[in-house]
Amino acid sequence: MMYLNGKVSLAYERFGRGAPLVLIHGFPLDHSIWDEVTPLLSSTFDLILPDLRGFGESVSSAPAWTMRDLADDLAALLDHLGLESAFLAGHSMGGYVALAFAAAYPQRVRGLALVSSQTAADAPEKRAARHAQVRQIAEDGIGETVAGMTTKLTADTRVQKFVHDLMRKQKPAGYIGSLQAMAERADTMSVLEKNSFPVLLIHGGADGLIPLERAREIQAKVPRARMVELSGAGHMPMMESPREVAEALKSSWAG
Ligand code: MLT
Repeated sequence: MMYLNGKVSLAYERFGRGAPLVLIHGFPLDHSIWDEVTPLLSSTFDLILPDLRGFGESVSSAPAWTMRDLADDLAALLDHLGLESAFLAGHSMGGYVALAFAAAYPQRVRGLALVSSQTAADAPEKRAARHAQVRQIAEDGIGETVAGMTTKLTADTRVQKFVHDLMRKQKPAGYIGSLQAMAERADTMSVLEKNSFPVLLIHGGADGLIPLERAREIQAKVPRARMVELSGAGHMPMMESPREVAEALKSSWAG
């Protein structure tokens, strides 16, 4: 199903019964990363799974966008579905989108889960590296990025194969727009500090992309945050430990 919004058409899936829960994928992936947790959640949540701009079946004719644009896409999708508010669970870059949404529309957030994500903005060197990566992809394509990321995402060879194939399918424009949006994003710790919606942190102990320490820093500053640490998981806990991820979401928000 597609939702049309000016320059952007947003693909999403929706199924299940219960409170609305939006599952937001990370970079450079699409909604199919959630396929192993959704059967475990569909009897307790009304699941909404968008493909972010530039990924999966979603398309954008804009050459660049911001986290706020991605948050506005989500708000437009909720409007389209007639939902005033929802629970949000964002994986990695999807967490940055969820945080940007919470910054702009705090009253629409019933609860926010960061899965392998962080509130910190990029350090200057990281920002520069993202812009260099944009230039590299524009010249040579996505091959180097895919090769570099696959083993960082997970040590599980089955999951590596899945994410490798999924990353290969995504378009360079999605990589480029997202890298620019990530590079320019703001620090969002204050969004969690000044609002009162429930916060859930799900993080792998072996995350090679965003260290567990980032989640611990949030927990130290946001005491109401519930932390679920999955010691054996890397950056893809929804595929490496789907039962534990589903249980964390259900025990926090279902019922
Ligand atoms: C992601 O997994 O979504 C990204 O790698 C996160 C990032 O690069 O900050």
